[in-house]
Amino acid sequence: MRGIILHGGHGTRLRPLTHTGPKQLLPIANKPMSQYCVESLKEAKITDIAIIIGGSGSNKVREYYGTGDKFGVRITYIEQDYPRGIAHAIQLCKDFIGDEKFLVFLGDNIIQKSVGGFVEEFEKSDAAASILLCEVENPSRFGIAEVKDGKILRIMEKPKNPPSNLAVTGIYLLTPKIFDIIDRLKPSWRNELEITDALHMMLEENHKITYHMITDYWKDTGTPDDIIHANGAILDKMEPYFHGDKEPGASIIGKVMVGRGTTIKNGASLTGPIIIGENCVVESGVTIGPNTSIGDNSKLFGCDVSNSIVMSDCNIDCKIKIRNSIIAFNSSIINNAKKDEKVFLLGEGTRIIM
Ligand code: TTP
Repeated sequence: MRGIILHGGHGTRLRPLTHTGPKQLLPIANKPMSQYCVESLKEAKITDIAIIIGGSGSNKVREYYGTGDKFGVRITYIEQDYPRGIAHAIQLCKDFIGDEKFLVFLGDNIIQKSVGGFVEEFEKSDAAASILLCEVENPSRFGIAEVKDGKILRIMEKPKNPPSNLAVTGIYLLTPKIFDIIDRLKPSWRNELEITDALHMMLEENHKITYHMITDYWKDTGTPDDIIHANGAILDKMEPYFHGDKEPGASIIGKVMVGRGTTIKNGASLTGPIIIGENCVVESGVTIGPNTSIGDNSKLFGCDVSNSIVMSDCNIDCKIKIRNSIIAFNSSIINNAKKDEKVFLLGEGTRIIM
């Protein structure tokens, strides 16, 4: 079997974070979210992978994954000129897939369960497709499947009156039959070729689509809150390690992952689950956690950070409580000598709540 990872899209809901690069490279527990897809595919023994790229900073995807060697896989890059829909992106992979079965991952979907069992079963089955469903609280935000007696009756995109709360997750097991269907698909009201429409057409043409339920964690990380939530959930499942230096008098409670060259100073306080990358400084008086990631080479003085992501090369030197926040690479928050004056250099679409 072959694999496809969708790494394009607009990423409008994650602006300004997506002005300089694709959302799928934003870190969750200090690792780009699409790397979880690469690792999932590899674990399921799928090592021939196409990555669909397009839009802002797609060169960063090539730079990060290269040939795939470093990750133990072979990567082919396929360009999408404009985000014309998930089904359009899949259609671009027709030659890459040939006549093999394949697994598609949306690069911003995070699951914790291994997909190996689903892949093995699909390889043996005569189904034209298999999808993974997950119960959600707000079904009108998702593609939804209507299921009866173990069979899928209908699949629809973001229905106003959802017939069930079973979201179609962004992990699809497919056969090349889908290409003939997508060829005949019409763009939706939002002018995209929808994967849900393609799957529904498959059902109408009497092709068999099976499904499995994901009962543990799944998140489509389209918004900042989704990313912060996924970050906490992934941290909670990690094995703790401590490769840095801890001065006597630093307090560490719960599950903590700390990288090489990082110093936790006397009087700093960490509450897990948290991850701190390499070569960071956590000064005396700083409080971090829970549910927080700090990227490599970041320096923290005077602050109290929880439920947040601070990416690499950041400098926070300020008596400030940071909550539910995402602070992108190479950002600074520093004390202003004149107390009542603040100085901002903010990208388009920035949000500050004070
Ligand atoms: P979405 O999250 O539905 O869309 P988006 O990335 O454009 O984000 P927003 O709605 O905030 O503007 O896309 C789902 C996944 O599929 C995501 O990983 C991006 C990817 N994608 C493509 O690669 N090509 C496409 O044409 C589309 C629409 C999405």
